[in-house]
Amino acid sequence: MQSYLSTTIDVYKEAAETPNVGLCCTTSPVWAFPGLKIPSRMLEMNYGCGSTVHPRDLVNEPKTLYVGVGGGMELLQFSYFNRNAKGVIGVDVVDEMLDACQGNLKIASKENDWFDQSFIDLRKGNALDLPIEDQSIDVAAQNCLFNIFSHEDLQKALSEMYRVLKPQGRLILSDPVCDQGIPENLRNDDKLRALCLSGAIPLSDYINLITGIGFGTVEVRAKYPYRVLSQNEYNLEANILIESVEICAIKDPMPDDGPCVFTGRSAIYYGVDEFFDDQKGHILFKNQPLAVCDKTANDLINLSNEDLLVTPSTFHYNGGGCC
Ligand SMILES: C[S@@+](CC[C@H](N)C(=O)[O-])C[C@H]1O[C@@H](n2cnc3c(N)ncnc32)[C@H](O)[C@@H]1O
Repeated sequence: MQSYLSTTIDVYKEAAETPNVGLCCTTSPVWAFPGLKIPSRMLEMNYGCGSTVHPRDLVNEPKTLYVGVGGGMELLQFSYFNRNAKGVIGVDVVDEMLDACQGNLKIASKENDWFDQSFIDLRKGNALDLPIEDQSIDVAAQNCLFNIFSHEDLQKALSEMYRVLKPQGRLILSDPVCDQGIPENLRNDDKLRALCLSGAIPLSDYINLITGIGFGTVEVRAKYPYRVLSQNEYNLEANILIESVEICAIKDPMPDDGPCVFTGRSAIYYGVDEFFDDQKGHILFKNQPLAVCDKTANDLINLSNEDLLVTPSTFHYNGGGCC
């Protein structure tokens, strides 16, 4: 096993035995649902950097896989939407984390009438070689784990998620990204990598890896600040901002003209006609913004039509749109 992977196991063994409130997690509010009580120890062990639990992905009791279980908070949240025996599978490589998670789920079952521990199937396993059957999962999620992986291992981890998803299944990620480029000496620091502080890659590289594996649709749903690597502390030329993104990638067939990547862009037609038709399947009604993927956005810009406005990426895509 590569040294950074064994350092990662040591880091999370410790984080399982002694909750570390400042590790990884952002100050984003924890999702609350009616009738759901999250035990305080689970909150202390929230080692995520955003949320992967979105009700709009979770209709019809999806079979859910969650890789890198931490204290179990998101497993509990997912099981809120699928209350069947083994409806949610949690996989983790660290025995102590699986034990801590199991203990927290037991507390959760005492604090939540609706919850039964049998809803969650905890399995020992590695994100790089998932103990899960092909095409058996509707929603596969990971929060603040894949950023730790080297380029080759990240590709492997994403391919594993692709393998286990059913057609049209959804991969939901919450992970740090960094557009500034983190110096090699920090990238090669196993401990910093394990702490989710130096493995982050640029968002566009991350999206290219996801689409390169075959996901036909990608939604960038949120992007916000995560950490600053300070110039003084890390002996850098300038401070480095690490951000956190929430992405949903759908196992749709790859369109002939390439993937549809939604980054929060819109197009608005404001000319004299009732609507504008680009003759490629997109009709824009006057003054009604349409969410567009980057491909459609660029095609519309290339028309140089002065009655069309195409907005830049907000990285906060909220559904609907051109494809
Ligand atoms: C930063 S924590 C995130 C925990 C959880 N997702 C959350 O949001 O609180 C990383 C998790 O991944 C687990 N982990 C580390 N390496 C792993 C691997 N190779 N395969 C599966 N899980 C791994 C750790 O034990 C830990 O539970």
